[in-house]
Amino acid sequence: MIFRAFVLLSVGVFVAADVTVYAPGSGSLASGWENWSWSSTLDFASTAGPGAVEAISVNTTAWGALSTFAETAFNNNYAGLRFDISGAQPDVSVYFSSSTDSDASTSLPLASMSTVVNTTAFTTVTIDFSNLPGNEGVLATDSWNLINFQGEIVVEPLFLSAEPLAGNLLAVTSQGDVDFSQVSATLNGAKVTLSLSETYSPWDTPAQTITYFTLNTPLSAGSLVIAAGANTTFSYTIPALQYGTINIANTKNISPTIYGVNFPTDADYIKLLGVTLNRWGGNAVTAYNPDGAFTNAGNDWFFENRVSSPEANPFLQFVSDAGSKSLFTVPALDWVSKDSTSYSYPRTVYPDQQSYDPFNSDAGDGLLPNGSWVTPSPQANVYTPWNISLAAAMLEAMPVKPDIITVDNEIEIASSTHQDMHPDPMGYDEELARVAAPSTCAWWFYWTSEIGYTDNAAHNNQDFLPWFLAQMNKASAQAGKRLLDYLDIHYYFAPDTSANDAAAKALRLRMTRSWWGMILLSSYTSRSCKANVMPPTDPDYLDESWIGTSIPPQWTEPNPNAIWLIPRMQQLIQQFYPGTKLSISEWDSTDDTDITGGLVTVDSLGIFGVNGLDQATYWSQPDQLGPVGLAYWLYRGNGTYFGDKSVQVNLADNSQDVLGVYASTSDGVKVTMVIVNKDVVPVNLAISNIPAGKYFLRHFGGDAGVAKWQTTIDIAANSNFVIPSYTAVFFQQQ
Ligand SMILES: *[C@@H]1O[C@H](CO)[C@@H](O)[C@H](O)[C@H]1NC(C)=O
Ligand SMILES: *[C@@H]1O[C@H](CO)[C@@H](O)[C@H](O)[C@H]1NC(C)=O
Ligand SMILES: *[C@@H]1O[C@H](CO)[C@@H](O)[C@H](O)[C@H]1NC(C)=O
Ligand SMILES: *[C@@H]1O[C@H](CO)[C@@H](O)[C@H](O)[C@H]1NC(C)=O
Ligand SMILES: *[C@@H]1O[C@H](CO)[C@@H](O)[C@H](O)[C@H]1NC(C)=O
Ligand SMILES: *[C@@H]1O[C@H](CO)[C@@H](O)[C@H](O)[C@H]1NC(C)=O
Ligand SMILES: *[C@@H]1O[C@H](CO)[C@@H](O)[C@H](O)[C@H]1NC(C)=O
Repeated sequence: MIFRAFVLLSVGVFVAADVTVYAPGSGSLASGWENWSWSSTLDFASTAGPGAVEAISVNTTAWGALSTFAETAFNNNYAGLRFDISGAQPDVSVYFSSSTDSDASTSLPLASMSTVVNTTAFTTVTIDFSNLPGNEGVLATDSWNLINFQGEIVVEPLFLSAEPLAGNLLAVTSQGDVDFSQVSATLNGAKVTLSLSETYSPWDTPAQTITYFTLNTPLSAGSLVIAAGANTTFSYTIPALQYGTINIANTKNISPTIYGVNFPTDADYIKLLGVTLNRWGGNAVTAYNPDGAFTNAGNDWFFENRVSSPEANPFLQFVSDAGSKSLFTVPALDWVSKDSTSYSYPRTVYPDQQSYDPFNSDAGDGLLPNGSWVTPSPQANVYTPWNISLAAAMLEAMPVKPDIITVDNEIEIASSTHQDMHPDPMGYDEELARVAAPSTCAWWFYWTSEIGYTDNAAHNNQDFLPWFLAQMNKASAQAGKRLLDYLDIHYYFAPDTSANDAAAKALRLRMTRSWWGMILLSSYTSRSCKANVMPPTDPDYLDESWIGTSIPPQWTEPNPNAIWLIPRMQQLIQQFYPGTKLSISEWDSTDDTDITGGLVTVDSLGIFGVNGLDQATYWSQPDQLGPVGLAYWLYRGNGTYFGDKSVQVNLADNSQDVLGVYASTSDGVKVTMVIVNKDVVPVNLAISNIPAGKYFLRHFGGDAGVAKWQTTIDIAANSNFVIPSYTAVFFQQQ
């Protein structure tokens, strides 16, 4: 429903002067207030109301609200809230909430404040905080910063989707009070009997519900038509069966720390998504000064100092409180931020820069109009010296110690990300001297340095990572102990999927093959090895980017048009520094909001497990309820985990472009599976050896949309599974 209201707000106060939220004639909210409305169309200078007095006009859809955010939180030390309102008996409720801790007051219906509100005049309404309307008592003490006017929530009953799922289910999503007796289905022209098994509404997406129906006959290839009332039908063609098998006798341990993210928000986030490793990293931490928790954004934001949020110690504390592990980056350049306000390139000193911070017009980007860097001013203007003993002292002083430490971040490109601190290009020797990791940013810098090929030439024509591993191996031998536990790299898919059209989505979903592939090499030292490469299961997946077509002549990597990242790195380690673990502390799906980004994440987490990757953290913090967050929830949500041993899966078809099937077990008996259908049509799978029994099922995607759907199902012996298009499914034997 739509409501229309004209509102004038003021907060009365007995401590200080009244605070005005909105004054007619201003055309906008008062200074210190922001529009945080949702699902609404608003006009802050409407004169359509009585007397043509300027007011805010609001039309909301279900769940929408006019919401005003106070930059300074208010409390019940104010006397109340006064506003003028006009409308055709608008069914509005007012409530107060806090964006910092998500607390909300009781919802106060306008009808409990005035019954005379009408379209012919504005009615003045006052909410007394010490005696809330409707005998709701006193407004609780809290740091309120949002005043919300919410329209009546009337939801039209509607069937939104109905899809085949697993062996014999229909998954029906709906809104409002629909009549489920209207749902019927025919399979290849014959009516099937349906029984309603469960209606489920996830606690964190309450506006949506899913209802599962069980068919009295298994889903099979052919035409499925689901009718939901007279005018709504959903039709599918279920394809022919694809065959596969699992072998629970053949298992391989999955490293527990592959389910990591960068910068989780808090302990609840970690627990609800089941995050196992939490990285404190990225460009800003290179300048982290524990003495004051200052940092500098570098080239990401006008080389400005600021206070780090969160600070290191509270971060390590909440990670530990959540029972999870931390991966902590220690700065390794010669400087860290000295305060929260300085910046490297003031306009007053360098008047001729390309751009300036829109929020601080004096802070520039350090670039001259012709693209060259300005010569940096002395580092001490912005930074304070940093060295290895200060780093050791920082770690020593930490009340909660990090589980794993990396030495800085993408330091090989410091001459651009931190041009002000380190203007000279970093070469092989300096990087080795500073870094034990090396958290290298991308494919290009795995094999060379910023200095360029003269640097490769100066190092026996060896590519960077093999050289780095060999040096660390040598140094470890000399020291008589292992000096590097993890080879840490960053990996960002190189194909361009930015168009996000059908072709780009399909490309995004198949490029996960660059994680794995197969590589059979006798040695990594010479190009002639190319002849030895005969990938048996992923024939020649060449990267669908510049990497797949160009071979920089100086590189000595075998098969450099294919990435095969995990096996390639494992082989490199095997050859140059055996026993080192492999870590990927930054990677992403290329789209955090599109369903295909979520499916890429599901597929990637499955691939990490099968291929023995040791640890990984997603860049950056996936939205808990977005497609990428749900990929973590699928494997690990709220205490229900994918198994810790990967079970062998064989599929008859070479369908890895559009399908991922991952099986696991923890006890060697019960099976947990994840299947991700990356195709735009359903897939119909017959996988032998899946034990019959009761299974817990979770899924997201497809027409059912991005939500935490779950139920319990029975799987019969030899049953086949239908997975809707663009859907990821988890099922765990109970
Ligand atoms: C108010 O904010 C909402 C989203 O928060 C936005 O959609 C809307 O356009 C804004 N309205 C005005 C008039 O600024
Ligand atoms: C709200 O809807 C009314 C009636 O359709 C319309 O006159 C008014 O302009 C709308 N207000 C806004 C802000 O869109
Ligand atoms: C409409 O609202 C005005 C202002 O509150 C009030 O004076 C008037 O009596 C109301 N009219 C009706 C018909 O309720
Ligand atoms: C179906 O559509 C017809 C015509 O479009 C309409 O008259 C009828 O009310 C609709 N029935 C339902 C159940 O929505
Ligand atoms: C850019 O301009 C600066 C200052 O005029 C000059 O020193 C520098 O050489 C120029 N760079 C290039 C690449 O032309
Ligand atoms: C690091 O800096 C501190 C403070 O300036 C100094 O006391 C210390 O000797 C330095 N350590 C090294 C290894 O240079
Ligand atoms: C998590 O699981 C617990 C125990 O099964 C349950 O009580 C709780 O409601 C769940 N929380 C969420 C947010 O799903």
